[in-house]
Amino acid sequence: MVSVEDRIRQLKKEKNAVILAHNYTTGEVQALADLVGDSLGLSVEAARTGADLIVFCGVTFMGETAKILSPGKTVLVPEPDARCAMAAMCTGEQLREYRRAHPGCVIIGYVNSTAEAKKEMDVCCTSSNVVKVVESVRGREALLVPDANLGAYAAAATGVPIAAWDGFCPVHHGITASQARALKGKHPDAFVMAHPECRGEVLALADHVGSTESMLRVAGTSEKREFIVLTEVGMRHRLERENPGKAFYFCEHAVCTTMKMVTPESVLDSLENGTGEVVLSSDVIEGARGAVMRMIDLA
Ligand code: 13P
Ligand code: SF4
Repeated sequence: MVSVEDRIRQLKKEKNAVILAHNYTTGEVQALADLVGDSLGLSVEAARTGADLIVFCGVTFMGETAKILSPGKTVLVPEPDARCAMAAMCTGEQLREYRRAHPGCVIIGYVNSTAEAKKEMDVCCTSSNVVKVVESVRGREALLVPDANLGAYAAAATGVPIAAWDGFCPVHHGITASQARALKGKHPDAFVMAHPECRGEVLALADHVGSTESMLRVAGTSEKREFIVLTEVGMRHRLERENPGKAFYFCEHAVCTTMKMVTPESVLDSLENGTGEVVLSSDVIEGARGAVMRMIDLA
């Protein structure tokens, strides 16, 4: 009998497909992917891939971003109900209202947002390039949506005053400073890395703040042997595999259940039957494309 993994490999070749997976997906899903990375790296790959079919393992906004960047390709998300909780905290209608009240304001949108909201944004960013994007609007009135923690982090890092929305990631916002301090107490020699979606008081305890991919780079090049990792626990797979002999400690409750919904079986179903196709109107694709392309240009 052919295994699920072998069948996926076979179909991938037959259909000229590429499988992209976010760093928070399960180890089994990461093992099937052609590229595992952070939101920015995966978006760049989605824009330049020569594949006809993109299977995006992650949450739905990632598949939508791939479709906006490559409208001529078929994009499949194996779990169409895997929606980022933070992305739901800011709608296109709310942004249209904000713009009416603040004409001239630059709306910076975290890529963790719906395509419908992206249509109303001037420029998108990820946790990798948020500082560069905020720098690029210095001197203008600006708003960053939907993550208040990311907005506060970027404003503090650049000195650029930006208004923030009141959205948050339940996984990262759920990591508290006292939990981080307890981990530091247990592992006093550990280097502390935190994702900018964490609360400001958690970021204040970190030695490095950055995207998931930046954490992998830092862990790979650092002389340190122990790391406290204040982000989603899916990061453990690559950190441990790529850094044998180094130890990584997490807040074990930091689990994004939607990222874990994708399974090898759902990837196979998508490849075999075309399930989970991302369908966006040309109006949304064209409206959102400029903001997403500006994000890629500032990669
Ligand atoms: P990265 O872009 O750092 O991979 O983060 C994505 C995300 O969803 C964080 O919660
Ligand atoms: Fe969304 Fe948070 Fe999950 Fe990232 S970890 S996909 S921001 S809910």
